[in-house]
Amino acid sequence: MKLESQKMEASHLEHVLKIEAECGKETWSKANILSELQKENSICLVAINPDSDAVLGHIFAYSVLDEAYINKVAVAKGSRGLGIGKFLVKIVLDKAVNLGLESVMLEVRQSNLAAISLYLGCGFCEVGRRTGFYKNPHEDAILMTFSTTNSSGKLSAK
Ligand SMILES: CC(C)(COP(=O)(O)OP(=O)(O)OC[C@H]1O[C@@H](n2cnc3c(N)ncnc32)[C@H](O)[C@@H]1OP(=O)(O)O)[C@@H](O)C(=O)NCCC(=O)NCCS
Repeated sequence: MKLESQKMEASHLEHVLKIEAECGKETWSKANILSELQKENSICLVAINPDSDAVLGHIFAYSVLDEAYINKVAVAKGSRGLGIGKFLVKIVLDKAVNLGLESVMLEVRQSNLAAISLYLGCGFCEVGRRTGFYKNPHEDAILMTFSTTNSSGKLSAK
């Protein structure tokens, strides 16, 4: 599938909210997203099919000092398993490398095997757990880190 990434704009909001609604847990509201778009250090991207201009997924990340943090990645339900999540995560990892950051961090529900597998496949390692971090349902968070120094040279979008 042909994919392009674009900086998220207010015009993408309707599509991003639709994908958020499909995710069920930890969904972000319009206000959350607008506030994220305004932050100076945020990296908010959408994956687009250039033939149809359809928004197929999105990622929210930000950088602080020498680290980046991925807050969220989500793909439209009908487009999962096609490499779109990996495409978006790898763009953020490439940006972290290009910005000279040392690492990229994230938290993920322990039951979210699709996301954990995506992150492991992108070079993240489990570095810890936060017991009972998530509510509804109550669940541990797995902390994962991608080290730009250990992984440089390995990044290339599929
Ligand atoms: C997690 C999510 C973003 C993955 O996106 P995706 O576009 O379907 O994933 P990709 O097609 O890029 O798959 C990348 C890797 O993830 C893994 N993966 C993806 N879906 C999987 C599934 N259902 N079960 C197991 N592994 C899976 C595979 O290892 C795959 O590797 P491969 O390319 O070698 O096959 C998507 O399932 C989603 O939007 N889920 C709801 C939101 C969410 O949970 N976000 C993460 C927490 S913030």
